[in-house]
This record gives sequence, C-alpha cells and structure tokens, in this order.
Amino acid sequence: MLLPKKHSGSDFTIFSEMTALAQKHDAVNLSQGFPDYEIDERLKKFLAEGTEKNFNQYAPMSGNPLLIENLMEFNQRRKIEVSKENITVSPGATYGIYTALASVISFGDEVIVLEPNYDSYVPAIEMNGGKPVFVSLNEIFEVNFDALQKAITEKTKAIMINSPHNPSGKIWTKNDWEKLSRILENTEIILISDEVYDVLTYDDQEFFSAFHHPKLSERCFSIFSFGKMFHLTGWKVGYVLASEELSLAYRRVHQYLSFSVNAPAQYALAKYLEVFDVKENIKTMQNKRDFFLHQIQDLPFTLNEKAEAGYFQILDFSNISDLSDKDFAIWLTEKAKVATIPVSAFYHDQKNTGKVRFCFAKKEETILKAVENLKAFL
Ligand SMILES: Cc1ncc(COP(=O)(O)O)c(C=O)c1O
Repeated sequence: MLLPKKHSGSDFTIFSEMTALAQKHDAVNLSQGFPDYEIDERLKKFLAEGTEKNFNQYAPMSGNPLLIENLMEFNQRRKIEVSKENITVSPGATYGIYTALASVISFGDEVIVLEPNYDSYVPAIEMNGGKPVFVSLNEIFEVNFDALQKAITEKTKAIMINSPHNPSGKIWTKNDWEKLSRILENTEIILISDEVYDVLTYDDQEFFSAFHHPKLSERCFSIFSFGKMFHLTGWKVGYVLASEELSLAYRRVHQYLSFSVNAPAQYALAKYLEVFDVKENIKTMQNKRDFFLHQIQDLPFTLNEKAEAGYFQILDFSNISDLSDKDFAIWLTEKAKVATIPVSAFYHDQKNTGKVRFCFAKKEETILKAVENLKAFL
C-alpha cells in the first residue's frame, strides 16, 4: 500500500539515530536531551500519592484545578499574570506546539521558523497544511530582525520562536521581544513561543517569556515542559499559556486530540510546584554546565560561547577534523565512544556547521567517563 508521507521530516530522527548508535558502540550518550540522574524523591512520593488519592480517571480537559491554581501562582511570582482561562495542561511541549499550530493555521499558510530549530516544528507545520519559511540565526545564534521582517508575506500566519534556545542555549532579551513586537504590530501574525528551558537560565541571566510582553501576550502561545523543568522527560506533561481567545482555539483542537492529560502525574506536578525551588534548580544545572566546561577545557574543541541556558553546549570541532558534522558525530561515537548531535540536524538543508551539541544534563560520573574517552582518543 502506498501511503502519503505527511511531512518532510526523517522517519528516524537524529536523536533516535545517535542514541541507537551510542547503544550499538557502547558509547557515553551525550546526544539526546534527557537527564540520567534521579528525579527529586518528593516527585516519586507525590506520584504515588496521586494514584492512592484516586486521581486515576480523566482529569478536566484544561487540566487538574490544583495544578492550574499553582501554575497561576508560580507564574505570578515571575510577573506573568494569568488566569485559569489562559492555562491548558498538555501531554508535553511537543504536543503543545503541534496543537497550537493545528488551532491557528490553514492549508497554504506560511509559518516562519528560525534556524537552527527543534526538530518537531517543521513536521508539525506540514502536517497541518502549512509551509515553513526559514530565516537563519547568525553565527552566534542571534536574530537578524531585518531578514525576519523580509520573510513576512501576506500568507504568513505564524512565527515560531524558541527561547532559551535549543541547541545554542541563547536567551531572547527584553529588547529582542520588543523588536519582534514592533515588526508584528500591524499584522495578525500569531506567535508560537517554545520556552521549555525557562527555569534553566545561568549566570544570573533573566528569562523573558513572550507572555511578559504586554502586546505579544495577546497574540502568543507560550509553551512549557515539566519534563525539562523538573528533569523528568519521560512524564511528558507540559502546559500552554495563551490569551482567552487563543486558549479557546487551542482547546477546540485539544479536546479531540488527547482531551486530557495523565491524571496522577498532574496531581504530583501540582504538589511539587508548591515546593519547587527555581534558584536551586538553576544552581544545580549551572554547576553541571560549569563542570562539563571545566572538564573539556584541555580538549582541542573550540568554545565560541558558553550556553546561557538549557541542557546543551555547542562546541566547534573544526580544529580537529574536516569531516562534516554528521560524519564527525558518527566517528566520535564509533571511535571515541561519545555520542553527540551534529548541529546540521537543526537545519532544514542539514548544512554542515563544523559543530556538535553535547548534553550536560548528566551525572558527573557520566561526564567524567565521556571526557576520559575523548581524552584517550583526541
Ligand atoms: C526546544 C524544545 N522544545 C520542545 C521539546 C520537547 O518537550 P516535551 O518533551 O515536553 O515534548 C524539547 C525537548 O528536547 C526541546 O528541546
């Protein structure tokens, strides 16, 4: 049977490919963005409590009321004023992104994507009949607002932003959001803002949500992931902030896609939000980034910029090899037994970048083992 291919993404993502290669070669896996350390014990307790307290049937469509309440408070503490009409719990951020797109775009609409970008965006646009229009970030992953402005046509329905950014760790400043707001001022373009690394910003850098901006908040979906916030990517729960009008449009799709989200997990996440310490979370992860950077400092990679946020550090390997970044990543996995992600995987044309991305959201012993392998080989 000949089945239509609904999008241009690969059948086997680079993340699955590199993880499978890491397993095959018994390599340390610093490729995919998932922690290998234990989650907070309190989360395990709250999850068990959720099932014991009988949160085992469908949760309300927009989310567990306690979770919504606690998300309102959590966001208020960082000066994002939202009510329950603005919050919808989702089965992960990837679903949130897909559903936001599904709720606003129609066949033939253009959606601007800044490259390099997280790999679900383009398939999600295409599966909803949209056409991605690419604008490249510069060498140090800053936005060229002139290029962005020029990419807008009368068919542009939405623009996708990711801050803090994967793979670079770059954070959008208040000024960046202001420039975007000015560009969008006399348009009806919707903003889909992927902010999954919101509570992982380092060196006292502030996180600005699109929702902090009074004008952008009227036209945006800001999308978050408890998987990244609380280091439990396997739970696949997130939430979406949007204006009342956009939330209605979102829920119109959500109620027929998934309807509701894992009930005991929502209870546990609600309880954990009551004790979650953002500063402590940042400190732990900044220490991990710094530990990684300290360990690799004698290796022949070039560090162009420290990650400002998130789980990842990009390193330049052009001093080491002329291979394409994909071949270099494969070679490194097979020979040095360390798996990474080539940065070309985040571009639609897979253009070679001479850079690979390392995930430092790992135990110290994992990072030490990876560095030992690299030192023995490079
Ligand atoms: C930028 C970005 N958005 C979304 C996701 C996916 O989040 P979730 O696991 O909640 O679907 C990831 C995961 O790596 C990511 O890096």
